[in-house]
Amino acid sequence: MTPVHEPDELLTIGEMSRRTGVAPSALRYYEDLGLVGSVRTAGNQRRYPRHMLRRVSLVTVAKRLGMPLADVGEAFGDVPMESTPSHADWQRASRRWKKRLEERRRAIERLEHELTGCIGCGCLSLKACALLNPDDALAEIGPGPRRLEDVVEDADEELDGDDVA
Ligand code: FES
Repeated sequence: MTPVHEPDELLTIGEMSRRTGVAPSALRYYEDLGLVGSVRTAGNQRRYPRHMLRRVSLVTVAKRLGMPLADVGEAFGDVPMESTPSHADWQRASRRWKKRLEERRRAIERLEHELTGCIGCGCLSLKACALLNPDDALAEIGPGPRRLEDVVEDADEELDGDDVA
């Protein structure tokens, strides 16, 4: 169903840009990502429903917090684009947003803890260092100097490919 908007509810891309401080090119990019939506005039120009102001503002805040745009899209989830979202819609988005921020905070705290320890340590051990080899992931590949072997194997494959070509 095509949404119905009164003309005075719609903002041009220039108005949207002035109101939010976001460049028109960024607004188009956010639209490509599905973070904001617009309707088109008969002349195929973008017009933004007024409720898109909140979405763009939240994207701006998320960027300042270092939140990936994909996470913002997830946080917006089922918040409707075609009609003005209800209070309940934004409450659900807020809970998803908070969960994402908590996950990021925990990841940053973990990294901070590991980095602080490594700066004081300096051993650069592939076995013991959580920064160089998180959760001993290299052990799953196999025993021995996996990184060096992987580099040599990659180089061999490249050379074999050159012979075939
Ligand atoms: S540098 Fe020693 S544990 Fe990371």
